[in-house]
Order: sequence, then C-alpha cells, then structure tokens
Amino acid sequence: MKKIEVKLTNEKYSIYIERGILELAGDKVKEIFDGEKIIIITDDNVNLLYGERLREILEKAGFIINVIIIPPGEKNKNSETLNRIYKELIKFQTTRSDMIVALGGGVVGDVAGFAASTYVRGISYVQIPTSLIAQVDSSVGGKVAINLEEGKNLIGSFYHPKMVLIDPDLLKTLDQRYFNDGVAEVIKYACIKDKKLFETLLRVKNNQELNDNITDIICKCCEIKKEIVQRDERDKSERMLLNFGHTIGHAIEKIFKYEKYTHGEAVAIGMHLITIQSEKLELSKMGAAIQIKEILIKFDLPYEIDKKYYEEIRKEIANDKKREGSILNHVLLKEIGKGYVSKIPIVEFSKFI
Ligand SMILES: NC(=O)c1ccc[n+]([C@@H]2O[C@H](COP(=O)([O-])OP(=O)(O)OC[C@H]3O[C@@H](n4cnc5c(N)ncnc54)[C@H](O)[C@@H]3O)[C@@H](O)[C@H]2O)c1
Repeated sequence: MKKIEVKLTNEKYSIYIERGILELAGDKVKEIFDGEKIIIITDDNVNLLYGERLREILEKAGFIINVIIIPPGEKNKNSETLNRIYKELIKFQTTRSDMIVALGGGVVGDVAGFAASTYVRGISYVQIPTSLIAQVDSSVGGKVAINLEEGKNLIGSFYHPKMVLIDPDLLKTLDQRYFNDGVAEVIKYACIKDKKLFETLLRVKNNQELNDNITDIICKCCEIKKEIVQRDERDKSERMLLNFGHTIGHAIEKIFKYEKYTHGEAVAIGMHLITIQSEKLELSKMGAAIQIKEILIKFDLPYEIDKKYYEEIRKEIANDKKREGSILNHVLLKEIGKGYVSKIPIVEFSKFI
C-alpha cells in the first residue's frame, strides 16, 4: 500500500493508494476517527455502485451510518445541493464529533468538503475519490467549493480532509469519457512539472496499458500535488501552477453551461490554446503546443474550439472574480515539464486567445 503524507503548517494527513483499499475503509477510518457516527455523502451514480458496500464496511467496523445522496454532475455543485446537505445533516442530528465521508468524483468531494468546512463551523471529513480527476487532483489539497451562476468555485474554503483513500479499482466502472477527462489533469501535471510523466503518457500504447499503470500514475500526481500544496497551501504562488489551462477552461465550461464540455475537456482546450499563443509571443519554447495537441488527440480529448466563441471567452475572463485587482495570474510553460506563473493586466489577456 502506498502512503503519501501531506505535512502542512498546522496539520497533516495521509493519502493511501491501493487497488481494493475500499474494503479496508473500516480499519483505516478507525485509525483517525474515534467518534460513533459517519455521514456518507455521495451522488446517485456512485451510490448505486459503491454506496451500499461502503455502508456495510463502515457498519461492520462499528460505526452508525447515514447516507446523503446528491444528484450527479457539475450543474449540481451549487447552493441548492449544499442547503439540502445541511438540512439532512441536521435531520441526522449530526454534531461536531461526527464525521463526513465524501464518496464520489470531484463534484461530491468539493461540495461535501465545503459542507464539512462550514457545518457547525467545521466537522472532520475523509475523501474516498472515485473518478480519475478526484483521485489525481481534487481529493488532495483541501480546496473545497461550490459554483455560483456567475462562475465556478466562487464560494469555497481551504479545508483539509483527515485522510484520503484512493482505490484505483473503482475506476473500472467510470465512463470512458470521464476517465479521459481525468487524463487531462494528468497531462496538466506532466506539462507543469514532469516531462518524464509526459513521455510516459506519449509511450503508453492503449487504454489497457494506461489502466495497468494507473496506480503509479495516480501516486505520481498525488506526490506532485502534495509537494506543491506543502510549499504553498493557500494558493499564493506555486500552487497557481495547478491552474494551467484553467482560466480558459473555466470560461468554456461556463459558456456552455457545464453541459457540452466536462471539466477536463475544457481544461484540455485551455492548455492547448494558451500554449499556442504563448509560443507566438515567444514566452514558451516552440514545440510544446504541438506536443500537447498530439497527446490530447491520443486520449480523445478536444484541443480547440470554434473561433466564434473567442470573444465570449475573453469577456468571461475579463469578469473573472478570482483575479488580483486588475492583474490576472495565468500559467504558461517554458517548455513541457516547466510551468510558470505570469502576471498580466487583465486587459492584456486578449493576446492569449
Ligand atoms: N478541489 C480541487 O482541488 C479540484 C481539482 C480539480 C477538479 N475539481 C473539481 O472536480 C470536478 C470534476 O470532477 P469529476 O470529473 O470527478 O466530476 P463528477 O464528480 O461530476 O464525476 C463525473 C461523473 O462520473 C460519475 N462517477 C464518479 N465516479 C465513478 C465511478 N467510479 N464509476 C462510475 N461513475 C462514476 C459521477 O457520478 C459523475 O456522473 C469539478 O467540479 C472541478 O472543479 C476540484
């Protein structure tokens, strides 16, 4: 079993990665939680596949279990879902000595984590991520949030889980489109920090071979994220690298109302478009954009969008609520494996799309 320890200023927690680790969830949870009651938060799809099994495992370990099931998908990462969670937590008489377990993809993890960070001013939670995006990215690092109509992740906090249990076997039931979606975040890590990982992805022959190596790939991504988060817990400097492709990506997701493109697909387009432009502006070494395009095609990910949407994307970015005053921090590549944060006045972003 692979164990990665995340050591932060005031706390630390472990990420465990192993095929089949879900079956050990009872023992693992006992190591970090001595309360009685656990509330599993999951979505309809994941509940049908793993909800009952997790309930059995945790009950067998002696815990009292309640389950909150939310509707799946990005469209439901909102205040309505959050309010429903609060109400159900109250109905189950949840107190600060109880614990939440988030069982699901990035949507469940983000919304359940935000509920945990705010309900009675904060109760403990554990992440059991079930999608590739959640296993390589969203379950680690403590960023939890919901979306507003005005934009993604506008309401949120930094709130770390007590533990993360990653079972790569759970990915077997994940739709291929969502699997590829997670590969987009893996490509992101490779682009900003790890040329070797990029080369590994280029070498992989097919999805079967990727799946055979997925545990190592997940470990690599979690290690990269842990290192970054330890150095910059609050997203003031290096952690911004993790937003490579996300400024344009978030704008695309929003323009298409979180329906046409998944998160990873939108980020994929964002990574490619920003790199084409940064090469033109001589801010990146030539050749990165074509390599990104090649790898995105390989994993059935989109790499472009009709130019007729560019103006709308520019407008969205100009209204980005997460900028610093009139400055936008955006991530470029010196070359594959070397990302850097560039600060530009928001009015100049149009050069990049
Ligand atoms: N907090 C962070 O640091 C961070 C980082 C990256 C992404 N995110 C967020 O993560 C979200 C995207 O995550 P996502 O792609 O996991 O979305 P998601 O949670 O909507 O999951 C995608 C779909 O797969 C289904 N699913 C999940 N696991 C499954 C399994 N094992 N088998 C079958 N179906 C399964 C879900 O029900 C859903 O329909 C976005 O909201 C994004 O903003 C957050």
